[in-house]
Amino acid sequence: MATMLSTSLSAQNPANVLTIQVDKAEHTISRHLYGHFAEHLGRCIYGGFWVGENSPIPNVRGIRQDVVQALRDIAIPNLRWPGGCFADTYHWKDGIGPRDQRPTIINVHWGGVTEDNSFGTHEFMDLCEQLGCDPVICGNLGSGTVQEMAQWVEYLTSDNISPMTELRKKNGREKPWRVRFWGLGNESWGCGGTMTAPYYSNEMRRYSTFCLNYSGNELYKVACGPYGDQIEWTETLMKDESTRRMFKGLALHYYTVCHDWGKKGSATVFDESEWFITMKKTLEMETHIRRHSEVMDRYDPEKRIGLVVDEWGNWHDVEPGSNPGFLYQQNTLRDALVAGINLNLFNNHCDRVTMANIAQTINVLQAMLLTRDGQLVRTPSFYVYKMYKVHHDAAMIPVVLQCEAFRLATDSLPALTASASRNAEGILHLSITNIDLRQSKELVCEFTGIRSIQRVSGEILTASAMNAYNDFDKAEAVQPARFDRFKAKANRLQVTMPAKSVVVLEIQL
Ligand code: AHR
Repeated sequence: MATMLSTSLSAQNPANVLTIQVDKAEHTISRHLYGHFAEHLGRCIYGGFWVGENSPIPNVRGIRQDVVQALRDIAIPNLRWPGGCFADTYHWKDGIGPRDQRPTIINVHWGGVTEDNSFGTHEFMDLCEQLGCDPVICGNLGSGTVQEMAQWVEYLTSDNISPMTELRKKNGREKPWRVRFWGLGNESWGCGGTMTAPYYSNEMRRYSTFCLNYSGNELYKVACGPYGDQIEWTETLMKDESTRRMFKGLALHYYTVCHDWGKKGSATVFDESEWFITMKKTLEMETHIRRHSEVMDRYDPEKRIGLVVDEWGNWHDVEPGSNPGFLYQQNTLRDALVAGINLNLFNNHCDRVTMANIAQTINVLQAMLLTRDGQLVRTPSFYVYKMYKVHHDAAMIPVVLQCEAFRLATDSLPALTASASRNAEGILHLSITNIDLRQSKELVCEFTGIRSIQRVSGEILTASAMNAYNDFDKAEAVQPARFDRFKAKANRLQVTMPAKSVVVLEIQL
């Protein structure tokens, strides 16, 4: 519902000012910044996406339809698979052919559980087709071989005659698929092989050489990149021209962990200081992006190589009573704020950040969806993705934000973040987060390069409790609502940003 505006504005010397440079749009916010990640981990694939054809849960060829509908609702642009750490133990030929003949293996990273390979390449590609999204496949550079990875590319994408394409046809798929995004290993400095940067760099060059473009399919190869502030890794991958030519994206992984990896903290039971620490560590994502971008700018000023944040999100302790290897965690308003802040950062850095994948889509870490048997819950993070989908493939409008601090004891953080975009119809969307737990913020938005604002409408995601969450057998406690706490005059808009909220405004200029 849009509101016509001509009210007078109040604040004279506003403490919170957002300058929205409508006339300075240069870069596009790729929809791939809104990507997702599905690993063979806990109940992400099995019970999450995949229930099998004989399940009483409504499915198409074994894939849950409530999940497909929900993810289509957020216009999921891509899905990364099969890991994560699992990817470097995965041998793709285990997951093709008749399901009852596929080998059963041990999922060594995630709980040591049995993996029967019933969800493999064909099931994943079917899932992507049902979702209408791009597949992002992470190849095994850790425990696999060059030949194995090269053959997987050929199996998927070639329409020529070869043993691999014949095998694909025998398994029921005549035509090749299109697979653009291809990971050359995952966390090769850790679970993907404990490699040094120079060693990985050489291996990556070898694998990349043999992963070919077939039948008009052009791979966007993503090299394993740093975790957090590992600048040396980026430097090693970026410094040689001949290495840089082997990939188009460099991965960056960074999780928000409230305390430390040993005791991360509960997803739902936390105090104000833990809210604060979580936000502080989330905002460090910007430092990581800036520092790696500086290195990349030095060697690649024309920005041919994208920074691909293909694992990020909140990592809390598992829910009490759940398998520690399954990484099942609830998702509260705190997670929604973390999603909103990160997405604003990615939007604002879209000249370098070309893809991002929150970990992970269902039942694992900062999930969009939780499932229990036939039930499905949409998390607060899901709703942020739903509200922000207006930014997909829109022109990024640079913003300059000056804002008040959110203080706790002697420490302080900027209370607000924001990003803006303009779509093909000329409509501007503005997303804003306020992490202050008590105080709303009066934000004055000044638009440069436009005469006046015609209409504004908005949505808000908030709740009375900072740890509010959506759960099974209950009405949703956290979901978007109409937002109208704004007034506009000429090219100025004043927004009252409630405490602990995410707001998206639609603005007709
Ligand atoms: O997302 C969970 C795990 O986190 C992934 O498997 C791994 O890449 C990262 O360490």
